[in-house]
Amino acid sequence: MSKEAYKLTSPDGSEIELPVRSGTLGPDVLEIGRLYRDQRVFTYDPGFMATGSCESTITFIDGDEGILLYRGYPVEQLAKYSSFLEVAYLLLHGELPTPSELEKFDTTVRTHTMLNEGMLRFFTGFRYDAHPMAMLSAVVGSMSAYYHDTMDIDNAEQRDIFAHRILAKLPTIAAAAHKLNAGQPFIYPRNDLGYTENLLQMLFAVPAEPYEINSVAAEALDLLFILHADHEQNCSTSTVRMAGSSGTNPYSAIAAGISALWGPAHGGANEAVLRMLREIGDAKNIPKFVAKAKDRDDPFRLMGFGHRVYKNFDPRATIIREMCHKVLKQMGRKDAPLFDLALALEEVALKDDYFIEKNLYPNVDFYSGIIYRALGIPTSMFTVMFAIGRTVGWVAHWREMITESNRRISRPRQLYRGPVQRDYVAIEKRK
Ligand code: CMC
Repeated sequence: MSKEAYKLTSPDGSEIELPVRSGTLGPDVLEIGRLYRDQRVFTYDPGFMATGSCESTITFIDGDEGILLYRGYPVEQLAKYSSFLEVAYLLLHGELPTPSELEKFDTTVRTHTMLNEGMLRFFTGFRYDAHPMAMLSAVVGSMSAYYHDTMDIDNAEQRDIFAHRILAKLPTIAAAAHKLNAGQPFIYPRNDLGYTENLLQMLFAVPAEPYEINSVAAEALDLLFILHADHEQNCSTSTVRMAGSSGTNPYSAIAAGISALWGPAHGGANEAVLRMLREIGDAKNIPKFVAKAKDRDDPFRLMGFGHRVYKNFDPRATIIREMCHKVLKQMGRKDAPLFDLALALEEVALKDDYFIEKNLYPNVDFYSGIIYRALGIPTSMFTVMFAIGRTVGWVAHWREMITESNRRISRPRQLYRGPVQRDYVAIEKRK
C-alpha cells in the first residue's frame, strides 16, 4: 500500500505533492526528483544530512540503536561466526555461500594475488617515504592500464573478474607499499595461506629468516576487515558510486574511493587517533585535551569520537574493544599503556556533558589503531588496512549502482552565490 504523499504549499499557493517511499527498514524517504521540473526549486542539504542518494540492498545502519546489518545479518553475529572472505561473498552476492561456493570463491581470490611485474616496478619510482595511501590509490588506479581487456562495465563476467582481482591484489599492493617504506625486499604472495595470513607474511616476512604467522594476529585482522567491510553510503563509498556513475572503469572508481578514505574525518582517523594518544602522552594531560576539544575556537577534535550516523554507540567499536584486550594480552604488552590511556580518555569523555549532549561516542577507529600497532603495523599503514577491508564494500556498491535499471550519472545542483553576469574588462583597464 502506497503511503500518503507529503503536501507542501508553494509561495503562489499551489499544492506540491512529494510521494513517500518506504524501505524494508529505516525511515521513509520523500521523492523530490520532480521538484525542479515542476517548481523550479532545488533542495539544499550540504553534507547530505537528510538526503538519500540511492536505493540499496547491501547494508543497513540504525544510528540511534547502534545496529549494523550486512544483507540483513547483524555485524555482531558475522564477527563471531563468520570469516572475512565469507562476509565478502555475502556482500557481493547477497547471500551467505554454501560450502562449495565458499571454497570456489576462496580459491579464486587466493589464485589472483600476484601483481604484474611491471606494476611492481612502479614502487621503485616512489620516494622511499611516500605515504602508503598515496601509493595505494596510484597503483589501484593504474590497474586500469593492465586490465583494459576486462573492463567492460556492462559485462557481468568481466565485473566478476574485476571484483576477484581487486580483492585478491589489494593486500599485495598494500604490502609492497609497506616494504618500500621499510626498505625491505618485496615478498611475493603465498596462495597456500588464507587472506589475512598471506597479508601478514607479505608485510613482515624477510628473505633472511623464516616467518611464523601469529594466529591471534590473523584472527584480529580478519575481524577488523569484517567490521570495516561496508558501511552503506559513507564518504568513500558514495565517492566510488559517484565516480562510477559516469561509466568510468571500476579501478578508477575504487582509486577515487581510496583517496576519499584517506581524509582524517573518515578512514584517516585511525592514524590520527594514534598521533593524538601519543601527543596526550599521559592520563594527567587528558583534561587539557578534552578542554581543547570542547573549545569552539580551537579546531582540535578528539579523534575517534563522534559519527555522522551513530548517535548512541558504534557497534563496531564495542567488538574491537574486546579484541584489543585479547591482542594486547597475547602479543602487545608494550602497547598496553597506550590502550590504558585510550580507556582513560574514553571514560573522561563519556562522562563529560559536552560529549553527552552532542552524542559523541568512540567510533571504530578509536580502537583499531591500537590493535594495528600491537601487531607491528606502522601508523601510516592504518588507513591502508581500513581500505583493504572496505574494498569489498566499494565493489558491492559499484556493482549495485552499475546494474541499476535507471542508472544515471550523479550530478548534484548548487545554490550559486557568485557574481552575477558582468562584462570582461581588458587588462589595461583593470586597477
Ligand atoms: N571532538 C569534539 N567535538 C566534536 C567531535 C569530536 N571528535 N565530533 C563532533 N564534534 C562536535 C562538533 O564540533 C559539532 O559541534 P557544534 O554543534 O557545537 O558545532 C558537533 O559535535 C557535531 O559535529 P559535526 O562535525 O557537525 O558532525 P558530523 O556528523 O558532520 O561529523 C565526524 C562526524 C565523524 C566527521 C566528526 O564527529 C569527527 O570529526 N570526528 C573525529 C574524526 C573521526 O573520528 N572520524 C572517524 C569516523 S568513523 C570511521 C569512518 O566512518 O570513517
